[in-house]
Amino acid sequence: MSLNFLQENWEKFAKSDPFWAVLTYSDKKGGKWKIDEFFKTGDEEIHQLIAEIGHHAKNRKRALDFGCGVGRLTQALAQFFQEVIGVDIAPSMIRLANEHNRYPKTCNFILNETNTLECFPNDHFDFIYSNITLQHMRARYIKEYLKEFLRILKPAGLAVFQLPSHITTNSPIKKFKQWLRAHLPTPIIKWWTRGKPWIDMNAIPKNEIIYFLKKNDALIIDVAKNNNADGYWQSFRYSFTK
Ligand SMILES: C[S@@+](CC[C@H](N)C(=O)[O-])C[C@H]1O[C@@H](n2cnc3c(N)ncnc32)[C@H](O)[C@@H]1O
Repeated sequence: MSLNFLQENWEKFAKSDPFWAVLTYSDKKGGKWKIDEFFKTGDEEIHQLIAEIGHHAKNRKRALDFGCGVGRLTQALAQFFQEVIGVDIAPSMIRLANEHNRYPKTCNFILNETNTLECFPNDHFDFIYSNITLQHMRARYIKEYLKEFLRILKPAGLAVFQLPSHITTNSPIKKFKQWLRAHLPTPIIKWWTRGKPWIDMNAIPKNEIIYFLKKNDALIIDVAKNNNADGYWQSFRYSFTK
């Protein structure tokens, strides 16, 4: 799926059911998330993350939340960092993130419509976090953004991201369906969905990601199993420095 089409789809979700699009719990579909309950999930996730791996983020000045959505995790990070920037590709997600921003002095939200993070200089962030975002884009873009994470991370900073590695089901039909979903070309998806929003689900095998990070001079700190991807996907949380 092209980046333009990906943006179009997230924009549709952001306009129709934004909180559910971020956290797709079946009982929350159709605008059923309560705002406080929704943001509490972000607080819990970030507190847990900082407890587990936060000691590697020694400097707590500037953090990036890549694929911030409505700012669920960005706002939670504001409790640990002096400045947090949330970046998203969907204008309506950014608008909602600003509307719900309880830390306007600490959290800023930026629309980024490109496959780079050129809006940031080299060695800029002490901490980079990305959860349930990279899984929704094709492998080429995942790798481009990971290279950008390495460029904009400060030396000895910490980057943490989640990504599925493989499908866990043994059913060949389910495996094929998931594979197909991740490989359909944009025109076919457009024809198939007839204007309804669509989310891609993508994976890169763990060994390939580890090889890619090392090849690009990342120093891997931790690779942990993670259940944040729905369905049949086994995902991992990768942490690295440089
Ligand atoms: C499932 S939501 C997760 C939001 C947030 N990470 C959270 O956990 O609350 C995925 C978000 O990633 C954004 N996104 C998808 N592709 C992106 C890209 N290439 N650059 C920036 N944001 C992107 C979508 O617009 C959407 O807001």
